[in-house]
This record gives sequence, structure tokens and C-alpha cells, in this order.
Amino acid sequence: MERLSLDVNGCFDPAAGGLAVPALDALAPAARAAFEGFEARRRSGELGFADLPADGAAADASVALARELAERFENLVVLGIGGSSLGGRAIVSALAHPYHNLLPRDRRGALRVFFPDNSDPATFEALLGTLDLEETCWATITKSGGTAETMAQHLALRERCIARFGEDGYRERCVLVTDPSKGALRAIADAERLRALSVPPSVGGRFSALTAVGLLPAAAAGADVTALLAGAAAMESRCRSASLRENPALLYAAVLHLMDREKGRHVHVLMPYADGLRDTGDWFVQLWAESLGKRPDVGPTPFRAVGATDQHSSAQLMMEGPHDKVVTFVRVVQPRADVSMTVPDVYRGHAEIAYLDGHTMGELIEAERRATEAALRKAGRPTISVQLPRLDARAMGELLMLLELATAYAGGLYGVNAFDQPGVEAGKRYAQGLLGRPGYEKARDELLARASPAPELVLA
Ligand code: PA5
Repeated sequence: MERLSLDVNGCFDPAAGGLAVPALDALAPAARAAFEGFEARRRSGELGFADLPADGAAADASVALARELAERFENLVVLGIGGSSLGGRAIVSALAHPYHNLLPRDRRGALRVFFPDNSDPATFEALLGTLDLEETCWATITKSGGTAETMAQHLALRERCIARFGEDGYRERCVLVTDPSKGALRAIADAERLRALSVPPSVGGRFSALTAVGLLPAAAAGADVTALLAGAAAMESRCRSASLRENPALLYAAVLHLMDREKGRHVHVLMPYADGLRDTGDWFVQLWAESLGKRPDVGPTPFRAVGATDQHSSAQLMMEGPHDKVVTFVRVVQPRADVSMTVPDVYRGHAEIAYLDGHTMGELIEAERRATEAALRKAGRPTISVQLPRLDARAMGELLMLLELATAYAGGLYGVNAFDQPGVEAGKRYAQGLLGRPGYEKARDELLARASPAPELVLA
């Protein structure tokens, strides 16, 4: 069967100031330790994300709930932020029709799915004002069960819904995805008798794309959840080796780690040449940043680009800016559709257009990918190439699992815990203090005491 391939040659090009193969071999013991450290935590039950593809029951529950909602509603609004939104959004935008939400129901064959994500009231109000609430259900997704942004959206929708449709209408429209036993949202699910799916306690937010967090929106949008999990399972089984010559996720993590540590290439760009993977880039940014940015001396900076769009934007920086980047190109070999181009006779005199005649847009974007990668290498810029046979559910499952496992191994190589995020707590404490949460007065006072700007540094 065709499968994802990873090619790291572009990081071992002597002409591009690349790594030497012995440097990779020298990292093998550390890579083995990172692999074994992760496997030990996995066996102990502490880390569950790599075992999700085998959990058919959880997938069935998401599919069944999505089907039930689709029988009654037209729109699903996914209330969640960070890992409780990005994974689902990445899957839906990779697998659904690019204009899924604009299609009529008979062409869509599934619910429209919206991811407001942020708690910007302007966007949220605009969404609620646009959707017909009669036809709208929503999923409140928060693993911890109390995330302020998500719960603010939940509260707003709940109030409108109850005012318009009563308690039963609310219960009909709202489903929850949260921890099986802990947190405010689980207690609310029980008290309000709401339908709720669980996120396994051993799976953290940004690693939860293959739990109900991602599977419920994916199934609601009509994605093939079974094939998605099969792809993830296939990648997981390819990654059961501690050898850099066999385990693609370990090789990916090791090469990026070496590039960062030995060559100062600490900006890691993911650049798919497919619009469907644009949101996967955002998901990767969160995964890499929140998992690895843990000490002043540890934290490669992830960056999302999209080809060919970024050739007219950040590619200039990649090509001639600081020598601090590694660009991972993601190629989709067989595009889902292609578009042919014919240059009319009246344009034939224009050499800058005429050469397009007889080609397809698929050929154009592929030529641009090849050209940009070659040009980067010629300019001494390292690249990595990930190739997907096509952008389907199986390939998407492979890609998600590849990047999740690579993140876990990279944590081991850098010597940090990739599965926590203590750094975001201080900001949360300040915000909750400002909003008057009891017990957070000290945080509020501390923040207010700091809020005296030097007047000469303010231009008002
Ligand atoms: O990766 C993480 O743990 C975070 O990005 C969370 O997903 C994010 O903070 C949302 O958390 P929760 O699902 O608890 O609302």
C-alpha cells in the first residue's frame, strides 16, 4: 500500500552546509533513549495518544453522536481552544470539501462545521448572528473542563438557547467532550443530563486530535474516521523501532534536533503545498511550540507556511534571511482535483504567460514546490520532504501520528517534558484575578502593581 514517505537528504547536503551522516549516527543512543523513555511512559499508562488508533469504541461513539446530530441539525459549532480545536479543524479542512460549509445539504451530505476557536466577541457574535440557531447544535470541548474562553462561549450559547428553545431545546443542541470524571464540565454534564464523550485522562490537549476532540467534528463533517485511524495505526506501527533507520518520527525529530543544536537552525517551518493542510500547519505550530518551548535554552520555533502562497511572502526570508531555518515541504502526490489551462491565441505573444499553455494547475504547483526546494538548497538552506500519496483520511492519520510521535521523541532529545505547559499558567492566573475569581486576588494585585508604565515610553 502507498504510504507517507520522509526524505531528509536536504539536511545532509554538504553544499548547503548540512549535517554529516556520522552526526546522525552519533545521536543514535540519545534517540534510542528518547524512544525508550516515551515507550516506558506509554506502557505505564501515563501517555495514551499513540494507542488511540486501536480504540475503536471511542471512534464509534463519535461517529454515532455525529450521525444523531446530523439527523436533526444543519450546523455544528465546535467550542474549544488550543488542542481542543486545532486538531479537529486540521482534520476537517484536510478531508472535507474546501468549501464544505457553503455547499447545499445534498452535496455536503453532512453537517456544516464551524470552529470559532478564539473568544473574540466580534467574531463569536457574528457567527451566532449568522447561523439559524434552530438548525444549530454545538459541542463544548474542554479537557480540563473549565477553560475560560471555551466556557464563556458555552455560557453565551446556553443562555440564548434556553431563552429560545427551553431546557429541552438546550439539551437537544448541546453535547460535551471532556475528562471522564474530573472538571467543571463533567459535573455540568451530569447535573444537566447532557450527552458527553470522554477524552482519556492520559491524552493531553494538543495530542487529542484522534480522540472525540477531533473525531466528533471530523465525523460530523463526513470524514472517514475509520480510515483516519487506520492511517494513524499504520504510522504508529512503523514507529515501533528505536532505530533512526526505521522509525520515521524518530528520524524527523533527530534531524530537526541536530539542525537546531549543531547548525543553529532553530526555526522549523512546515510548508505543505496543499490548501487542505494549511490548518495542519497551525496544529503543528501549537504541538511543537507548547510541547518543546520549556527552557530558555530549549524551544525550536515552529512556523507555518503554505505553498505556493508563501513563495510570494515568507519564502524571501527563508531564501536570503538568517541561516536559522529548516523547511519541511509536504507534497501531496495525487491532488484531489486538477484544472487544465489553455492560453488563448491572443495571449500567445506574451512569453511570460504562453508557457502555461497545455499544463494543469497541479503541474504548476508541483513545479513550484520542486523549484522552491531546489532553490533553497542551492542557497544553502536545509529542507526535508514529506510526501503523501494523496490527501485522504488514511494519509492524514499517518501525518498526524508522525508529527505527534516526533514531538514526543523531540521532548526526550531536548530533555524536556513535552506533555505539560506550565508556562501558560501565569497568564491564566492574572486574567482570572482581573475577572475577580476568589483565591486569585494576589495575582490581580501583583498585576496591577506592575501596571505603571514609564510615561516617556508611551505615545498616546
Ligand atoms: O495542549 C494543551 O493542553 C492546551 O493547548 C489545551 O488544549 C488548551 O489549553 C485547551 O485546554 P482544554 O481542553 O482544557 O480547554
